[in-house]
Amino acid sequence: PFEETLRPDTLGSYIGQGQIKENLSIFIQAAQLREESLDHVLLYGPPGLGKTTLAAVIANEMGVQIRMTSGPAIERPGDLAAIVSALEPGDVLFIDEIHRLNRAIEEVLYPAMEDFCLDIVVGKGPSAKSIRLDLPPFTLIGATTRAGSLSAPLRDRFGVLARLEYYDEDALTSIVTRSSRLFQAAIDLRAASEIARRSRGTPRIANRLLKRVRDYAQVRGDGIITEALANEALELLQVDKRGLDHIDHKLIHAMAERFRGGPVGLDTLAASIGEEPATIEEVYEPYLLQIGFIQRTPRGRVLTPLAYSHLGLPVPE
Ligand code: ADE
Repeated sequence: PFEETLRPDTLGSYIGQGQIKENLSIFIQAAQLREESLDHVLLYGPPGLGKTTLAAVIANEMGVQIRMTSGPAIERPGDLAAIVSALEPGDVLFIDEIHRLNRAIEEVLYPAMEDFCLDIVVGKGPSAKSIRLDLPPFTLIGATTRAGSLSAPLRDRFGVLARLEYYDEDALTSIVTRSSRLFQAAIDLRAASEIARRSRGTPRIANRLLKRVRDYAQVRGDGIITEALANEALELLQVDKRGLDHIDHKLIHAMAERFRGGPVGLDTLAASIGEEPATIEEVYEPYLLQIGFIQRTPRGRVLTPLAYSHLGLPVPE
């Protein structure tokens, strides 16, 4: 319920991603003027930036229903057929982690996206035949953390491509302030900025930290979230001044101390700290790259002087 009530439901209440909102608002109005379904939309970018939220906002602004599923959940063409044949005209079909759809499903999806029809094979062996089902016009919204892993033919079938960016401190401060208001917790502006600064550009992290700081203020203070209480709570949570957590630190320390700052390959690095390479690549590394603590080179990842000075370590020769 917490997550649900915090999610904005209109473009007007969605904070940040200004360019994307402006574009979407034009495409939505145009589709409505022509009484058409909205073109298919691909949302991509790091986790926690609001792809699912934005999909729900788009459906709400279009005045249609949204059906949610994910790439791994659609195992057989019949699974997809069951979902799309239940759609009403104009509805949004949201597929999270769309890069994880298997090839057989992709093949069924192409004509569904292009011509709103479904070719499915019924029966087995010599008596098998292909039947064509007409679908209502619908909008596919795909979300992925890695647009590069989408096959080119699938990517090419989206008319709207939107890359979500990390949020700046002002936007995150507004989100924290808005969320505090929604659950009726009093917060100082400086406390909101402090949470924002430590949220790695990510609303999901900002809202999670806010919850924990609110807990702290309730137990160790009088419920009002002050800057001092926020700092204490965040310290106790081991979220540092730049928002780096325990795992970011493990990663950076491993690079500095075991690999002399690199270059080190992703798999080697992952094994050395006991994390999955994909988790490092999709969850931890993007922000460290963004703030210039890590660089990717053809020979592997390297730690930058900025990272050394953040850790208080001497920069190696
Ligand atoms: N809560 C989480 N993300 C948000 C956003 N982008 N705008 C407003 N509230 C949010």
